[in-house]
Amino acid sequence: MNAAALRANELRKLIAYHNHLYYTDAAPEISDRDFDHLLQELRRIESDHPELATPDSPTQRVGGAPIDGFQTVPHRIPMLSIDNTYNADELRDWDRSLRKLLTPGERIDYAVELKIDGVAMSITYVNGLLSVGATRGDGEQGDDVTHNLRTMPDVPLQLKTDQPPHLFEVRGEVYLTRADLIRINRLRSERGEKPYENCRNLTAGSLKLLDPKQSAERRLRLFTYALGVVEDVPIVSHRDSLALMAKLGFPVNPHTEYRDSIEGVIEHIATWNTRRHDLPYDTDGMVIKVDSFAQREQLGTTSKFPRWARAYKFAAEQAVTKLVRVEVQVGRTGKLTPVAHFDPPVRLAGTTVSRATLHNAEEMTRKDIRVGDTVVVEKAGEIIPQVVRVETAARTGAEQIFDFPLACPICGAPTRRDAGSPFVVCTAPRGQCGGQVKRQLRQFARREAMDIEGLGEKLIDQLVDTGLVQSITDIYQLDRSKLLSLERMGEKSAQNILEGVTQSKDRGLTRLLAGISIPHVAESMADILAQEFLTMDALATADETRLGQVEGVGPERAKAIREYFQSEAIVNMIADLKEAGLRMTEEKRDTSANAAAVGGVSLQGKTIVVTGSLQRYERNTIESLIKSLGGKPSGSVSKKTDYLVAGEKAGSKLDKARELGVTVLTEDEFDQLIGKHP
Ligand code: IVH
Repeated sequence: MNAAALRANELRKLIAYHNHLYYTDAAPEISDRDFDHLLQELRRIESDHPELATPDSPTQRVGGAPIDGFQTVPHRIPMLSIDNTYNADELRDWDRSLRKLLTPGERIDYAVELKIDGVAMSITYVNGLLSVGATRGDGEQGDDVTHNLRTMPDVPLQLKTDQPPHLFEVRGEVYLTRADLIRINRLRSERGEKPYENCRNLTAGSLKLLDPKQSAERRLRLFTYALGVVEDVPIVSHRDSLALMAKLGFPVNPHTEYRDSIEGVIEHIATWNTRRHDLPYDTDGMVIKVDSFAQREQLGTTSKFPRWARAYKFAAEQAVTKLVRVEVQVGRTGKLTPVAHFDPPVRLAGTTVSRATLHNAEEMTRKDIRVGDTVVVEKAGEIIPQVVRVETAARTGAEQIFDFPLACPICGAPTRRDAGSPFVVCTAPRGQCGGQVKRQLRQFARREAMDIEGLGEKLIDQLVDTGLVQSITDIYQLDRSKLLSLERMGEKSAQNILEGVTQSKDRGLTRLLAGISIPHVAESMADILAQEFLTMDALATADETRLGQVEGVGPERAKAIREYFQSEAIVNMIADLKEAGLRMTEEKRDTSANAAAVGGVSLQGKTIVVTGSLQRYERNTIESLIKSLGGKPSGSVSKKTDYLVAGEKAGSKLDKARELGVTVLTEDEFDQLIGKHP
């Protein structure tokens, strides 16, 4: 074997080893970045020596190009759902009904599994190689999401066998861990985007991303729990099918157990009622299945559900406690967020909850939440604690309406609530409120903006609290000795941070705009502005009229952007950042290539508003698709709008489009427009 082949082998082993540490042991030994370097090296070798590429190489998982839209895949056998039960008696009824259909006295073995709260998936292998992965869709046909499945380390690219069956379909659940939901939501909220409610929604959203690289970042996981269509696979029970899937390389949930009576099943289920919260992923119940395939055959299927399986749903947990105090936190743009403190803390979905956000002043009024109230607390999507309601009957009269502080609790500047706004805000000028500065620095350094390796929340707190950093520009004045003066800062970390800071200088205008906390400008708007103006100077000097001509920039946003760039603090900050050597330009994107890929249809220059809920697209996916075809997604309907794509429950935007005579498209018509036939 030559040197390249040896190294490729070695890299594959290393990558498999680190994947295992990451995904199975949750104990990574190297950083994501170092992991990427291993992959890049392997990818380079394979592209220099194509004969060394193998179908199951880890490089096959990443690097695919974004797809243009989803193909529909018919399921060879329908993907059925399961009938629900909610208590022990319903399970007993079910057991009785099964016994009536089988020989009297016949033994039934039940498999009892966790019901993973994710998205059902069918994955087909042809001659042992991954061929298609599809969502359940309507049960008859689903969306082809193979491009995203390929990136998932849990999904074998090739079956682990020398004699693969010609056709092999497994079914299972794609899911995300709670830790990943928290990680992703943290990034989203820093960007001012709405957090995902729960792991299931995030999983569905991640599967619907067109760009597999983005999807890979979500770190989707898989458990398989059923066979679909298989050829030449002699399997007689559920137990055997799980063993076979495990042998072929699929992740099978380790918590499946078997019981030979429904009472045994019921007892076992009860043990999971609270234990389930110790799992790193969400479950919304248990699934009970008849083990024997012969019995399944005999029992058959109703029009909707198999008779041989039932889901048992856990009840949503609530707890009652006292709201004893409201604390106020200051966000990056100065918004004050009220946070409720509970006494006693309550156990909910596996964690102890002692606080919950009350969102804003308006929400507190709407729910009439007062200090001293007895409140019902629930975990929204089992993750974010919420005050559901107040037990007004328990009021004693001693409860106090919460008054927002007149001065910012961090910097002491006066606070203000504008008419019509749900928020109270700190009015300190930019850079003068420590609370705001910390949030601004987080926004700046986060991965989607300037991506400064090592500059995380803890370090930012330390830097601001010690006074070493008082603004974004101070980041670029950091040096070794300043960093080493911090507690628990080692030579190597300091070096890494400085390298990260240096590397960030070349991120370019789009990411810079996404990082500098311009009001009403999140990533997609940063991209639009950077593509429109190409240099910071052009943008910073554009007047309101010019800004208003940019699609998606309404009068309010134009005014906010203009005011931002006119403020002295910002003018100075930009001059300082320029001085520090930051790149403040962006290349114009070439959109013609993408357009050609979808039957030559281009949306070049077309302004498109999307409203209502769509069946096949998530909002950000359709917007990236529009952008990739040269169009401009916009948030509001105006005379400049070319098309409105209206989904279900479209509201005022649809009315406005009709009023202005804007062409309204259904989701199918949109697909036809771009040359994709649904
Ligand atoms: S078996 C015909 N097993 O629950 C039976 N489903 O409401 C096929 N699910 O669509 C499904 N964990 O998305 C099965 N251990 C498990 C499951 C499971 C989660 C989901 C699946 C299914 C839904 C049924």
